Amino acid sequence: MSVTVRVPAKVNVQLAVGAARPDGYHDLANVFLAVGLFDEVTVTPADGLRVTCEGPDAWEVPLDRTNLAARAALTLAERRGVEPAVHIHIAKDIPVAGGMAGGSADGAAALVACDALWGTAASRAELLEICAELGSDVPFALVGGAALGVGRGERLTALEVGGTFHWVFAMAGRGLSTPAVFREFDRLAQGREIPEPVASAELVEALAKGDAEALAGAVSNDLQPAALSLFPELADTLDAGRAAGALTALVSGSGPTTAFLVRDAESAVAVADALRGSGTCRTVRVATAPAPGATVV
Ligand code: C5P
Repeated sequence: MSVTVRVPAKVNVQLAVGAARPDGYHDLANVFLAVGLFDEVTVTPADGLRVTCEGPDAWEVPLDRTNLAARAALTLAERRGVEPAVHIHIAKDIPVAGGMAGGSADGAAALVACDALWGTAASRAELLEICAELGSDVPFALVGGAALGVGRGERLTALEVGGTFHWVFAMAGRGLSTPAVFREFDRLAQGREIPEPVASAELVEALAKGDAEALAGAVSNDLQPAALSLFPELADTLDAGRAAGALTALVSGSGPTTAFLVRDAESAVAVADALRGSGTCRTVRVATAPAPGATVV
């Protein structure tokens, strides 16, 4: 018997970052939007805990207990006094170390899958609590859709989405470490007063209306200057997508994946083709949003 859970990637349409807290984290106003690029996590009873991964970037995924999927299984097993004797297989389509929360997605998916496999019947609240323990972006992968995350980004309020948004994503030739990008944010912020992060009312309204042009005018990412400082070539990718007709171009989360909001499916194809031909990125993907959160298939 096995259980498979499908889980989406995310793009941050707003990432407002406050000053570093005493615990090293940053308070955020983080507007997550789940996009239709998915990993599938399958759990099967086994002699012990084992993680395997398939997909174009599978070699980059750690298969030890640092993998969030393994940590999710261990955390649930420990709480319920169950043996974590499970083979976790990740069919990976979300870019690795790309700022699209692929590792977080696998954590949420493995948690939901193990809960179903073991019959531990955790409540939604308990699942969300475990997700928050695993990482700041993990609770959102559980819920999907769109949500505002405050605190570290883990305290979620669902947001309404009134239509389908079309996106193009350009994956870079190398990854960026999220802690390194936050450290660069701190370095660039030295000597400046950092305002409290607040969600943009204009952006929330654009999501609710399904209005791509209004959303394009309201997106923002406070980590973008830090990501560009560590990875200056990303500016060329952003320029290539803008020149091809994207409504807006931004770094996804801590990067280095770049995200292009476009008017419709046709424009997505044109922008994707232009990005592929630009020589400024490794691969290009088209996806729509919103997408549902972690779901048993
Ligand atoms: O929560 P998570 O383990 O995914 O965070 C990874 C890293 O990103 C943290 O160790 C921290 O350096 C940085 N981070 C942060 N503030 C946040 C979320 C993450 O500084 N709100």
